[in-house]
Parts: sequence; C-alpha cells; structure tokens
Amino acid sequence: MRLQDNLAKILIPSDRLQARIYELGAQLSQDYGDTRPLLVCVLKGGVMFLSDLSRTLSIPHELDFMAISSYGGKRVESSGVVRILMDLNTNIEQRHVLIVEDIIDTGRTLYYIRETFQARNPASVKICALLNKPERREVEIPLDYVGFDIPNEFVVGYGLDFDELYRNLPYIGVLKPEMYS
Ligand code: IMP
Ligand code: MG
Repeated sequence: MRLQDNLAKILIPSDRLQARIYELGAQLSQDYGDTRPLLVCVLKGGVMFLSDLSRTLSIPHELDFMAISSYGGKRVESSGVVRILMDLNTNIEQRHVLIVEDIIDTGRTLYYIRETFQARNPASVKICALLNKPERREVEIPLDYVGFDIPNEFVVGYGLDFDELYRNLPYIGVLKPEMYS
C-alpha cells in the first residue's frame, strides 16, 4: 500500500512548508531575542514542525514536550475533552513559553493547554501553529504565529495523522474523503 494513493491532492508541498517555516523562525528569533524561550511541542502532531522550526532559530532556546489525548471524538474530529498524558519537565514560572502545534481546528485543545500553562505563572504564553482552519473555530484563541490558513478539509502529513498513519509524509496532503467516511 502506498500512502500517497489515499490522497486527493497535495495542499502544501515540502518546499513551501520549509520556506514558510524559515520565515517564522526569523520572526521568532527577532521577537524573542535573548529571552531564552521554551518551545513546547504538543505530541505527536507537532514533532516535525518543532524539529524543523527549532533548526531555523538563531537564538538560544529550550525544547520540551507534552502529550495529550482528547476523548470521545471521532477519528477526524477532536472532542475538546483533553487529558494530559505526559506533562512538561520544565518549570515554566517566569519563562517565555511558545506552544508549537500542528493545526488549530476548533481551538479546544489549545485553549485547554494555554489555560493550564497560564495557571503556572509563566512570563508569557504564545502559540505558533503551522496550520489554521479558521472556519472551524469554536473557541476564541489568540494565534500569535501561523504558518498557513487552510480550508476546511481533513489534512495529513508532516506530523498530522489519520489513524496514526501519514505522519511521515514531507508535505501536507488532503485525504480522500472516502478514506474516513
Ligand atoms: P482542536 O482541538 O479541534 O483545535 O483540534 C486540534 C487537534 O485535532 C490537532 O492537534 C490535530 O491532532 C487534530 N486535527 C484537527 N484537524 C486535523 C486535520 O485536518 N488532520 C489531522 N488532524 C487534525
Ligand atoms: Mg495534534
């Protein structure tokens, strides 16, 4: 089986992804300067983005990881009920925290993570999302850095999965609707 055969199209090819990530990295380097931000990857979807983004940064920064699960939703939709499976190793009090996420859909997952972090008295909490589906938003959430606004289609690749597959594709593709309907 070839994963590519299950895609309707490639939405964002690899070179466009990398070019945009380079721009985001330049912006972040300028904005954070010598504040030694902590980049938090939300596993598993954010892992490709975090590792490429980190390598474009010219400033000192730290990395940490967090794993969450959302309950009860269908495989193509998050339920908004979020549980922390693995918490940060870092004490974020007085730290500048940048949450690095693959995609903002309803916004519920990030809303929860942001609230959780804010209760720990960080110096700041900002969000950097590779992809944003504005049409699907259900909760208001400030997106400080966004790679691409995309239409309301289910996408896979570059960390994003369907049923745990497709994360390894180096581009963002649209899954054929018959794959999940
Ligand atoms: P939210 O809580 O609805 O914003 O959902 C965010 C999470 O749902 C993301 O971190 C993804 O894991 C997943 N998700 C949302 N849309 C897609 C998609 O198009 N493809 C793959 N995963 C998605
Ligand atoms: Mg995710």
